Amino acid sequence: ASKYRAFPPVRLADRTWPDAVISQPPVWCSVDLRDGNQALIEPMDIARKMRMFEQLVDIGFKEIEVGFPSASQVEFDFMRKLIEENRIPDDVTVQVLTQAREPLIRRTFEALAGVPRAIVHLYNATAPVMRRVVLNMSEDEIVELARSNAQLFQDIAADYPGTEWTFQYSPEMYSDTELAFSKRVIDAVTAVWQPTPGKKCIINLPTTVEHSTPNLFADMVEWTHRHLERRDSIVLSVHPHNDRGTGTATAELALMAGADRLEGCLFGNGERTGNLDVVNVALNMYTQGVHPGLDFSRIDDIRATVEHCNQLPVHPRHPYVGELVYTSFSGSHQDAIKKAFAAHKEGDVWDMPYLPIDPKDLGRSYEAVIRVNSQSGKGGIAYLLESEYGLQLPRRLQIEFSQAVQREMDASGKELTAQDLWSLFQKEYRLD
Ligand code: KIV
Ligand code: ZN
Repeated sequence: ASKYRAFPPVRLADRTWPDAVISQPPVWCSVDLRDGNQALIEPMDIARKMRMFEQLVDIGFKEIEVGFPSASQVEFDFMRKLIEENRIPDDVTVQVLTQAREPLIRRTFEALAGVPRAIVHLYNATAPVMRRVVLNMSEDEIVELARSNAQLFQDIAADYPGTEWTFQYSPEMYSDTELAFSKRVIDAVTAVWQPTPGKKCIINLPTTVEHSTPNLFADMVEWTHRHLERRDSIVLSVHPHNDRGTGTATAELALMAGADRLEGCLFGNGERTGNLDVVNVALNMYTQGVHPGLDFSRIDDIRATVEHCNQLPVHPRHPYVGELVYTSFSGSHQDAIKKAFAAHKEGDVWDMPYLPIDPKDLGRSYEAVIRVNSQSGKGGIAYLLESEYGLQLPRRLQIEFSQAVQREMDASGKELTAQDLWSLFQKEYRLD
């Protein structure tokens, strides 16, 4: 027997999601400044937090979890700075997280005093291992913990009538919790909050640790979506992590299964292997013809800001943004891309071999698309010499020169730039 658990699917006679497609974007919520930040080697100081906040606003996030104000003075002060310096645009709602503990909840509302609108996010763990080993609480006690703190939210919020409050609840480790039990806890919370279709609350379902295949999580989301009380008064949110490397698939299937909202981080920063990469999901939608409502048209600038704020590099092969993802070294790929570019006209449907997205849509240029190393062929060499130096080589000369290039690269093992190729060409044909 394996020491790892099996996760049987939830059997539904009339399952709908496998046929579904994503036809509209979810409500996006960035958790870069909270879940992302808490996973950093060096958490952001106030200046880096502000830079990240402004970047998130620029991209178009309308809901931004800005921190955990009761967790540290920096987090508290950052929240105060956003409010006191009027940094929150009118169409953006900030969100803050708190554990289900009275002193922390009181401190959280203090941090929010004077904010025009906010989402206050309550969480407590619900999974059996947490109940048994960490919290030492029965099921009834967990329900009461969530219910009584939901009530405390109501009571304290009443002291701040000038703020438009939205409440959010997360059963932490939802994906490891018995479905009927998580429903019991959530229903107890919404019975206190009494949301209406005109004033919804948010119920957020995390894969705090990703243990199972994405379809199983989607089964859970679909079940919860169908069985929760007051569903029409709830924004159903999901919060995938990426422990199995399947955060994106989890998010996409969860949207097909009935979720309305997604929480994640830019380029998948976050605890352990990260939170869901919102850029990935948004641009997957984009390449399927659904505009995500987020603007990644200057993706290199966004990457530079995120690398600065997180003090972590983005991998050169990271989908959509990595330095190498619009580059082909192999000769046959280069040849196909070159031909497709020649045939492509402005306004045509994007149907390019080896390029799932037009790099220009993300502010990337075609220059990096074709690069030459020992895997490349004459087509790539000819393309670089023509595009960079206006040199059109006849076919026989292409073949001849590519042999010289190959010799050079076999000797060095290195990539050759357009300038290197031009120098070699001059040397080979004694043009200097
Ligand atoms: O991953 C998680 O469960 C969380 C909760 C606090 C929402 O970050
Ligand atoms: Zn999380």
